[in-house]
Amino acid sequence: MPARQPRVILITGCSSGIGRSSAELLAARGHIVYATARRRESVEELRAWAYAVEGRAFADLLDVTQPQTIHPVVERIFAEQGRIDVLVNNAGYGQPGAIEDLTREQWLAQFDTNVFGLVEVTRAVLPHMRARRSGRIINISSVVAHIVTPLMGAYGASKHALDAINTALRMEVAPWNLNVVTIEPGPIRTAFQANVDKNRFAGIASEESAYRQYYRALEHRWVEQFDKSGVPPERVAQAVRRAVETRRPRTRYRVTWVAHWAPALSALLGDRLTDYLMRRTFGLVKVRPGRDTQC
Ligand SMILES: NC(=O)c1ccc[n+]([C@@H]2O[C@H](COP(=O)([O-])OP(=O)(O)OC[C@H]3O[C@@H](n4cnc5c(N)ncnc54)[C@H](OP(=O)(O)O)[C@@H]3O)[C@@H](O)[C@H]2O)c1
Repeated sequence: MPARQPRVILITGCSSGIGRSSAELLAARGHIVYATARRRESVEELRAWAYAVEGRAFADLLDVTQPQTIHPVVERIFAEQGRIDVLVNNAGYGQPGAIEDLTREQWLAQFDTNVFGLVEVTRAVLPHMRARRSGRIINISSVVAHIVTPLMGAYGASKHALDAINTALRMEVAPWNLNVVTIEPGPIRTAFQANVDKNRFAGIASEESAYRQYYRALEHRWVEQFDKSGVPPERVAQAVRRAVETRRPRTRYRVTWVAHWAPALSALLGDRLTDYLMRRTFGLVKVRPGRDTQC
């Protein structure tokens, strides 16, 4: 069923997963979607799709870590549509690795995409939304904004930071009648997990790492967990659609039972018990003196 009032929507990170599903669903609902991606080949692919949905979708290059790619897209949308009703900040990735192992560059890169990039796109769009006293910012956060898994501390930290940004921004832009919505998915079956592995091998799969056995365990359990409890990205796209179309959107939409219950359960159990269960789930068993330690 088409939406009654078509919205002009900018989405980041549409080459795959949640971004792509959201773009497809929102265009199918009759909205005008500007689907962006950071790689040229992804933009070409998006253009082929956009062409097929005739005038309701457009594709453009946007790397959230490259401000020179952000502003031209925002200006283009204003030139063509006169407004942006909704910004969906979706682009993101997960940098795996123990806190001890991750380099400064890996930390900066994680925050550059998941936090600073998101802020940069938001800052580019906000003056236009404030001028019209109308608009919605939808940020794709994660359940890890509330409950962190071991060996994914940098990713968890980036989503914790996003939660603080969401809360402050929500209050700051309320006087202009703007809404800020957080979507908190649990495990979703997308390219995310494969990219976690890719990042792991690219940066931290060093045989010298004291945590190497846990990385190996994480690899198996990670895939196992996602296979068991992950849901397709269309489920998140439906939450994005609700946040776009509802007259008064909620401040948070949680997707999957993990996102609904894990933070509350963890608060109930307390830190020690939660840590114990997490460590068991992710294979972080006690180090046997003299055998597994490295210094
Ligand atoms: N999958 C999950 O279980 C899960 C759970 C909770 C939250 N999330 C969040 O959901 C969002 C989407 O992830 P996904 O699961 O759909 O994974 P995905 O399929 O890997 O999609 C991530 C998207 O972000 C893009 N991206 C990465 N860095 C970028 C940059 N610098 N500029 C622009 N785009 C960039 C990727 O582009 P490339 O293809 O070029 O890399 C890709 O299009 C992320 O913010 C993630 O943290 C995912």
